[in-house]
Amino acid sequence: MIILSIESSCDETAVAVTDRRKVLSNIVATQIAEHRIYGGVVPEIASRRHTEAISAVCTEALRVAGITYADIDAVAVTFAPGLIGALLVGVNFAKGLALSLGVPLIPVHHLRSHIAANYIDNEDLEPPFLCLLVSGGNTVLAEVTDYTSFKILGSTKDDAAGECFDKAARAMGLEYPGGVTLDKIATAADTKAYPLPYPHTSTGEYDFSFSGLKTAVINLLHNKEQKGESIDIPVVAATLRQRVCDMLIEKTMRAAEEKGYKKIAIAGGVSANSELRSRMEKECLQRGFKLCYPALKYCGDNAAMVGVQAFYEFESGNIGGTDLNATATLPINYR
Ligand code: KG4
Repeated sequence: MIILSIESSCDETAVAVTDRRKVLSNIVATQIAEHRIYGGVVPEIASRRHTEAISAVCTEALRVAGITYADIDAVAVTFAPGLIGALLVGVNFAKGLALSLGVPLIPVHHLRSHIAANYIDNEDLEPPFLCLLVSGGNTVLAEVTDYTSFKILGSTKDDAAGECFDKAARAMGLEYPGGVTLDKIATAADTKAYPLPYPHTSTGEYDFSFSGLKTAVINLLHNKEQKGESIDIPVVAATLRQRVCDMLIEKTMRAAEEKGYKKIAIAGGVSANSELRSRMEKECLQRGFKLCYPALKYCGDNAAMVGVQAFYEFESGNIGGTDLNATATLPINYR
């Protein structure tokens, strides 16, 4: 089943062509350079750039896949959650395309598609499994009970892990997107050199909390600046990365043990983090768990993951009409 999928939930305009789990093309036009000067995504600029790029990105996705519009069996689109103006560009483009081609329109939840990024290169991965989903806007620990059925075990009580990295990195003067830069400059270091807290939520919970850690980094930086003291940014970066990974890994391993999962996946932009990947590997190996993560090119926002999830949404009868609307917030287990 050939699906043309569209993703425009934040600052990447992406179109892909997929056939079940096979990726025939995956084109991403990123706006990062433009948002960098503001230190974060400016929603109005994002929407405008999507509008300008989407048609050309679509044409390129068809060219690379070696198909024409006549070969498309369905059109899929990210409809929630995300920046509302940005989502609307993709949703309206997809609706027009599906209507004109006379093919089904498949609405796809952004977080479900991040999880589906794991299906692309992990051919044997099938639900049920446990997934840690860590991105710029979300941090969720979920049981993937079926391809379109999810149970949330925990989520962040405040900032997402990626948001914590990005905001702390910005205070450190690192280039946007901060999480990526922070991961690159973090050095193997004495992570006790700076007194950053080990965040914890109530024992037994699977929820996360990262805002205290972010504030501690900002306070540390201000404090040193006010005293005229120097600070070793790569060491602070390594310390923050370690604390964030500690919390993510501890909760995930405990949930897997308590809920009896032997298959674990990580997904979302932060699943590209080098320490998270290597420590999760080690922890899973020690416990005899199988760990899956997407190839780096499928960790951040892309449309290939939308197409793969769309196939399973279609199989479960999730088809949208011309009244499909974009939604800024929506839980992963929506009905
Ligand atoms: O999944 P994504 O591309 O967009 C959302 O749906 O939110 O995630 C973007 C987030 C940003 O916060 C970015 O800083 C973070 O993923 N990120 C990383 C790394 N690569 C991307 N955070 C830590 N280490 C990385 N290597």
